[in-house]
Amino acid sequence: MVMSVIEVAPLEHIRRERSSIKWTRFPADVLPLFVAEMDYPLAPEIVATLVERVQASDTGYLDGPGPLAPAFAAFALNRWGWNVDASHVHLATDVSVGIVEALRLVVPVGGHVSITPPVYPPFYELVEEALGNVVETPLIEHGGTWLFDFAALEHSFASGIDAFLLCNPHNPHGIVWARAALEKLAQLAARYDVFVISDEIHAPLTYPGATFTPFAPLAVTAGARAVTVTSASKGWNIAGLKCAIMVAADDATNELLNRLPEEVACRTSILGLHANISAFGCTDWLDNAIDQIVSNDALLNSLLCEHLPAVIYHRPRASYLAWMDLRHVGLGDNPYQRILVDARVALNSGESFGLGGEGFARLNLACSPDTLREAVARIAALVARVSAEAAA
Ligand SMILES: Cc1ncc(COP(=O)(O)O)c(C=O)c1O
Repeated sequence: MVMSVIEVAPLEHIRRERSSIKWTRFPADVLPLFVAEMDYPLAPEIVATLVERVQASDTGYLDGPGPLAPAFAAFALNRWGWNVDASHVHLATDVSVGIVEALRLVVPVGGHVSITPPVYPPFYELVEEALGNVVETPLIEHGGTWLFDFAALEHSFASGIDAFLLCNPHNPHGIVWARAALEKLAQLAARYDVFVISDEIHAPLTYPGATFTPFAPLAVTAGARAVTVTSASKGWNIAGLKCAIMVAADDATNELLNRLPEEVACRTSILGLHANISAFGCTDWLDNAIDQIVSNDALLNSLLCEHLPAVIYHRPRASYLAWMDLRHVGLGDNPYQRILVDARVALNSGESFGLGGEGFARLNLACSPDTLREAVARIAALVARVSAEAAA
């Protein structure tokens, strides 16, 4: 049930007010539905916290997570029943930095890091930044969803993998991994001593009816080494505030994280830390945002059925990213490019998500319903034009 509709300002207004990539990358006639930023206004509690901290001139360096650790622990317990030991929480500038720093601790130079594409494109670059090599084990499509290829993963783990980069929930598909699948992964990781880094940035945005399972407790049960990297940055749209946390699954991993360079915490934004604390207490805003996204997911599904029936839409169970199979719409090998250039709608190219992403595109659902309607109308007009040309 939608508690209250989040008022989304007209696009021209947002474009005038905001200076982020979403509003500057393309000309004004392009509908920006690419990068994972929301069009929603910030939660008023976060705005008030930021104003208060700035007015207090509280803009120095951080020394550690401080009150963020218990704030996250309370959220994780209430939301997912995950009992986080606050002393296992460490700061990082953002989730990407947290992943790189975790990789640096556990992957030797030239070591091997397993990922499961199609997946969040920077995973490739983060591994490279940590001087490791990516080993791809693509997800397998089965019965309208995607699964881990456990046989291939085991084969790969047995050949010498240092770390596994888990996307939980999975970007771009919005898959909320089943507990059984994560248990199996934890057991495999324990058997071959593969260190798991679980990126759980999208977890707060899990839809009603889906059950998110944090990986760390499963790792502990299976005897696998693991760290969770997360932030309020996606759920509450505060990526620019630069603050994330790394949570060690057990005492031994915590010892490892204690060896992180001091600068990793110091470089984290103090405003980001306070915004994260405020966000993890703001579950009403979060639930309301999820309601809007769920309603946009249903709207997109019905718009596609009506105007673009050749698109196969794999509906998410978390976050605001819609993964669409455009291989049968008649826009050629690179539908993303055609849609950008000729329909003036910016999506994310499926190809950038790695193996298995070709012919797909990702669309951002955290916008107003009118923006979605306009995007589908523009793409449908292009598809109709192209098919008329082909028939002529
Ligand atoms: C799976 C995933 N991890 C990490 C990030 C980036 O997080 P941060 O901005 O905190 O580095 C994103 C951004 O969309 C993401 O989807």
